[in-house]
Parts: sequence; C-alpha cells; structure tokens
Amino acid sequence: MVNHWTPDDIPDQTGRTALITGGNSGIGLETAHALARHGTRVILAGRSEGRLDQAAEAVRAAAPGARTDTLVLDLADLSSVREAATRIAETETVDLLVNNAGVMNLPERRTTRDGLEMTVGTNHLGHFAFNAQIWPAVRRSAAPRVVTVSAVAARWPMGRLDDLMSEKSYRSMGAYAKSKRAKIVYTLELARRTEGSPVKALVVHPGAAMTGLQRHGNGGLSRVITSIAARMLMGSAPGAAWPSLYAATSPHVRSDDFIGPAGRDQTSGAPKPARLPTGSDDPAECRRLWAVSERLTGVPFGLDAGTAASHET
Ligand SMILES: NC(=O)c1ccc[n+]([C@@H]2O[C@H](COP(=O)([O-])OP(=O)(O)OC[C@H]3O[C@@H](n4cnc5c(N)ncnc54)[C@H](OP(=O)(O)O)[C@@H]3O)[C@@H](O)[C@H]2O)c1
Repeated sequence: MVNHWTPDDIPDQTGRTALITGGNSGIGLETAHALARHGTRVILAGRSEGRLDQAAEAVRAAAPGARTDTLVLDLADLSSVREAATRIAETETVDLLVNNAGVMNLPERRTTRDGLEMTVGTNHLGHFAFNAQIWPAVRRSAAPRVVTVSAVAARWPMGRLDDLMSEKSYRSMGAYAKSKRAKIVYTLELARRTEGSPVKALVVHPGAAMTGLQRHGNGGLSRVITSIAARMLMGSAPGAAWPSLYAATSPHVRSDDFIGPAGRDQTSGAPKPARLPTGSDDPAECRRLWAVSERLTGVPFGLDAGTAASHET
C-alpha cells in the first residue's frame, strides 16, 4: 500500500486521452485540470456546450499547451447518449474513461426523456449505455482504464437495487443511494467481463465536498443551516478528485478496486481501498444488474461473460 501520494506524483500521461463525463464542473473539472497538467488530452463531456467551452478554456489557461475537446452528452436522454457515443466510437481512442457525472437529491420523482427514474437514469443507466456504445474506442487503447465515481451512500440500506426505478416508492436520497450502489455493482461486473484483457475497471468514492451536487434539497432556513454545517465538514473539489486521479493513473491499483480518500480530509494521504457495500460483489446481483441495464436502456453491451479475450490490442 502507498502511504504518500499527491497529484504531483502522477506519471507523465502524454499520449493518453481521457473522456470525463460531468467534466465541466466540480470533481470532474478538477480531475481534468490535474490530468491535463500531466499531459493527458482531455475530452470534457456534458450537457451544455457553453459550460463545456468555459471549462475547456479554464483547463487550457491553467495548463498552457493542454489539449482539450468537448462533447455534448445528456445522460438523461438516450438519443443524445447514442449520438455522442457514435462520434467517439468512430474516431477516438479512449485510454481513460471517467464516469463522473451525477445528480443527487431530486425532490420529486422525475423521469428522463426515455421514462427512466431520473437519478438512476442519469447516474447509472445513461453511463451504462454510453460506456457500451463507446466501447470500440476503449478497446483501441493498449492500456484502458474505466474509473467510475460512486459514493459512500452506496452502503446505505435504502440503496438496495430492488425497485430500481423507484416505482413503488420514491425517496430522493434512496434513488441516489441506488444509483451509487449500481455504479459499484456495474464496475465489479465490468471487471469480471474484461478479466484477462488489458482493461482496468475501478470504482471510487470522493468523500464529501461542496459542489453543484448539493444544489437540490431542502429549502429555507434548514437549507442555510445544512449548507453552513456542510461547508465546515466537507472537503474541497480538488481534494475530492484525488481518488479518481489515483485510480486513473496509479500503477498500484487493480481492476475491481473500490478506492476512497485517506480520510475526511482527502488530501491527508494517499487514496486507499474502501469497504464495499455489503453484498455488492455478489455475482448474481452483478449479473442481474447488467441484464436489467441492457433491458432498460435497450443497449446490449456486447461483453458477455467470458468475452474478455475479444479485447483487441
Ligand atoms: N460532492 C460530493 O460530496 C460527492 C460525494 C460523493 C460522490 N460524489 C459524486 O461525484 C460526482 C461529481 O459530482 P460533483 O460533486 O462534482 O457535482 P457537480 O459539480 O454538480 O458535478 C456533476 C456534473 O454532472 C453533470 N451532469 C448532471 N446531469 C447530467 C446529465 N444529464 N448529462 C450529463 N452531465 C450531467 C453536471 O453538469 P451540469 O453542469 O450541466 O449540471 C456536472 O458537470 C457525482 O457522480 C457525484 O455523485 C460527489
């Protein structure tokens, strides 16, 4: 285990291309900044062209000479996912895919354009369909990594994956916990299905940081009090990006690792393996989620169990 690590220890990444969903703000943008500083070409993916352009400009300003591109991708719209993925799959080699975008605590049950519950639809199912459809670009890399951003909320009992679409009952943080457990279960199954290939599939949790993620939730006084308390207890977006950066670049990680920060202060040491939610590594649960995700999105991944050897290098 590594004790000391900071993003300054990231080895030179020249020649590698990273695609970061939700790369225009918060933890995703900080991930982009650090990767670009170390020579990675970054493709920032998000739903607003204007916010993406601003973020790309900020990355280039902070790391002169950085190579940036943007990709319009709305994970809550499977036709947008298909369009964006097709563009990438046809032309790119993606060495690092960071499944980072997310929404949290939507007060009422809402649905995506395709009728999927919005939180799970965006955080997990949109990413599942995107990953499946850009897989040809990942396969072109000699050393691909897929880093998926989960949360400690994945351990909450209300994150169980039955009633995935919250059709029986909806709780805003329950839907978030389901989406974050799904990201762990997805990664463990992806790791299993790519075993024996060069793909490394890792899942991380960033600890806590004040970002745009907390924009929903209670209104009025309780929101003000929660927000003041949160600011005192939470870390910063740059620190919260450490687990993603470590998983993306460290030689000391293995496929199916769940990596979290060193402590509440994410910058107090090297990111380290975290405890998986109980039962999330159950192979039956992993296979079931994979099949349900293919059915709900209508997108077959094309990585059946045992097809790892089909990875082209
Ligand atoms: N902050 C924390 O304390 C914390 C803790 C645990 C886990 N996480 C995880 O960390 C990840 C990053 O969150 P953050 O804290 O950096 O929050 P953030 O600043 O709100 O970033 C979330 C990103 O996701 C994007 N996004 C949301 N809906 C999207 C959609 N339909 N299509 C494409 N992109 C979409 C947002 O784009 P827009 O700018 O267009 O909204 C934004 O760029 C999330 O997966 C979150 O669950 C965060």
